Amino acid sequence: MKAVAVLSSLAAIADAAATWKNARFGGGGGFVPSIVFHPTEPGVAYARTDIGGIYRLNDDDSWTPITDSLADTAHWGRWGPDALALDPQDADIIYSAVGMYTNDWDPNNGAIIKSTDRGETWTVTDLPFKVGGNMPGRGMGERLAVDPKNSDIVYFGARSGNGLWKSTDAGESFEKVDSFEAVGTYIPNPNDSSGYNSDKQGLAFVTFDSTSDTVDGATSRIFVGTADNITASVYVTEDAGATWEAVEGQPDQFFPHKCRLQPDEGALYLSYTDGSGPYDGSLGSVWRYDISSGEWTNITPVTGSDLNFGFGGLALDMQNPGTLVVASLNSWWPDAQIYRSTDSGATWSVLWQWGNYPELIYYYGISTEKAPWIRNDFLDVDSKWLGWMIESLEINPHDSDHFLYGTGLTIFGGHDLTNWDRTHNITIESLADGIEETAVLEIASAPGGSELLAAVGDISGFSFADAADLDTAPQNVWNSPKFTSTDGVDYAGNNPEKVVRVGKDGGAPMLALSSDGGFTWALHAGADSSASGGKVAYSADGDIIVWSTESGNVIRSQDEGSFSAISSLSSGAVIAADRSDNDYFYAGSSGTFYVSSNGGSAFSEAGSLSGVDSIRDIATHPTTAGTLYISTNTGVFTSTDHGATFTPLSTTLTNTHQISLGVGAGSTDFNIYAFGTGPNGARLYGSGNGGDSWTDIQGDGQTFGAIDGARLAGSGNVGGRVYVGVLSRLVK
Ligand SMILES: *[C@@H]1O[C@H](CO)[C@@H](O)[C@H](O)[C@H]1NC(C)=O
Ligand SMILES: *[C@@H]1O[C@H](CO)[C@@H](O)[C@H](O)[C@H]1NC(C)=O
Ligand SMILES: *[C@@H]1O[C@H](CO)[C@@H](O)[C@H](O)[C@H]1NC(C)=O
Repeated sequence: MKAVAVLSSLAAIADAAATWKNARFGGGGGFVPSIVFHPTEPGVAYARTDIGGIYRLNDDDSWTPITDSLADTAHWGRWGPDALALDPQDADIIYSAVGMYTNDWDPNNGAIIKSTDRGETWTVTDLPFKVGGNMPGRGMGERLAVDPKNSDIVYFGARSGNGLWKSTDAGESFEKVDSFEAVGTYIPNPNDSSGYNSDKQGLAFVTFDSTSDTVDGATSRIFVGTADNITASVYVTEDAGATWEAVEGQPDQFFPHKCRLQPDEGALYLSYTDGSGPYDGSLGSVWRYDISSGEWTNITPVTGSDLNFGFGGLALDMQNPGTLVVASLNSWWPDAQIYRSTDSGATWSVLWQWGNYPELIYYYGISTEKAPWIRNDFLDVDSKWLGWMIESLEINPHDSDHFLYGTGLTIFGGHDLTNWDRTHNITIESLADGIEETAVLEIASAPGGSELLAAVGDISGFSFADAADLDTAPQNVWNSPKFTSTDGVDYAGNNPEKVVRVGKDGGAPMLALSSDGGFTWALHAGADSSASGGKVAYSADGDIIVWSTESGNVIRSQDEGSFSAISSLSSGAVIAADRSDNDYFYAGSSGTFYVSSNGGSAFSEAGSLSGVDSIRDIATHPTTAGTLYISTNTGVFTSTDHGATFTPLSTTLTNTHQISLGVGAGSTDFNIYAFGTGPNGARLYGSGNGGDSWTDIQGDGQTFGAIDGARLAGSGNVGGRVYVGVLSRLVK
């Protein structure tokens, strides 16, 4: 469900005061690689996502985003946290290693970000290499750790052959640890020419032994894991990092994803997998290492043909030494499995087992009240209830009943884990409320229709009927048909209950129609499975579709007839429908503008745009036929004659990307919103005077990742409101 290279998140709302908040999906919607509890301060915990930054846990099980200010357009990769560490001696301090990709998809080197106020404010220390928060292996860890005896010492295990790095000034600077020579040579697929799967996975974790002596004020014994499946993968220092050696007697198969210290037992617990995750792993093991005796014990909870997966999340009950849980990383059928032991791994019990085949006996109940769509559109249509990509699994160190684990879809967890030992039945809930981690690929707000239509990656999409609904998690995703990814959505201007969407990855027809504002859908009768992806434009009356496909041409259908190519437009053209006049469609390719006055059957070149070599977006006026706004590399142009002639708007805004009109505050006028470069740099601007002047409406506390990928929709119904859909990945 959750593809490795898919990214990004968060639809936000600005009212006139430019305060931003998330529209509530309620259930995450993407992969959560890690959850970290503070070891000594009750109630302090954070989740890191792969494309949506870091979130702080609240008392009521909800989460608050804490890195929204960090990912401006020049640093969009900072929403990819690859590791997170808390200072065991100061519960206010957080560190994270951030950066989205180690290949050229992310132009920047990574950084270590630090907060001393639980994520309210941050400082940034640049690293001299890249970090891969949305790369394979992002669920291993944590690769970043603060010495429990010395808050100035921070270690970071890097990817790409860069080895082990250390700070001795509380994260202000980092230097390579030359005495540590292993680099983690495992490569998921050396043939991947994109660089995404062909990078060295690097180091897996840094785990301090808080029970060891101190040397010059530093913890003496530290374990470091590497992604190596042929040589050793667990190393130890006994002299605070001066010298290192491979731990003797260690497993010689697979490599470790998690390494947890149980101080009362003087033992490490490690989960192993034959792949780097999060989407793979077909074999693995679980081990206990007794630190003082040096004895390794294989405590893998399953054997034989039942063992067809590796192990990811592993959590220790800090209140009850010897009690632990471990999860399959990816057990695709019938479901993931979680194992629990109360005797240090000597014996295990399961969360479900086969009854009389095909019956399953569940030792849990599951509910998704905070995100009903998870139950309705995922659990109820799939055997996988517990999830997949389970790299994180945590027991609250202060509350043996409270557990959380991240999946490819959400965070599950609950508050009665010790019932496992009493009644062997626990309650699992979806507990990702506040984490918004989907790739928002297109958004629209229909005047007189649905207030927000959000096309998203991996989980199809959502409709919100009214502004009041934006705080309520939807009952359903766009289903029947459910697209893996929905790339484009549009509504009919004169009949806004009519909505069209296009998607991809299904191997089936990828165009669906709704006549109730995007709540129920049916496949378009004329679509075949050859066309997919891209963007779609719906004629004003809702009988003609122009589809700029990702898979090929720009194509057209009328009255649900079959599609035919529009020969006058080249593939990838930007398209839009006139919102009022059913005969008109508009298009742009490179710097050339096209208009169709016969319902999209044919397009011809229209008004020239001097100096423009890239038309990025076309916004048609919600109520006035023939009035439109064109976003280009030189700024915004407007036309009031169906694109026959254009006038440039204020040149204070240049190099613009998505553009949208929305209802103005307190009047029937429309505001114009655009991402572009203006007086305050590259960000979101708005104009309440038809584009004569532009105001920075983004503000200082909110960033939107790369602005050339951010989606924009002025509200069709609420004065002064605009929606932004964020796409962290730079799409080229
Ligand atoms: C080790 O990983 C490599 C990929 O880097 C793989 O080709 C090989 O089969 C693995 N070897 C073992 C023994 O698992
Ligand atoms: C990489 O390519 C080589 C040569 O074509 C092939 O033998 C090998 O199986 C490929 N490896 C993977 C992991 O796809
Ligand atoms: C555990 O509880 C759930 C929810 O109440 C129930 O559906 C399930 O059947 C129970 N399992 C067993 C084995 O009794």
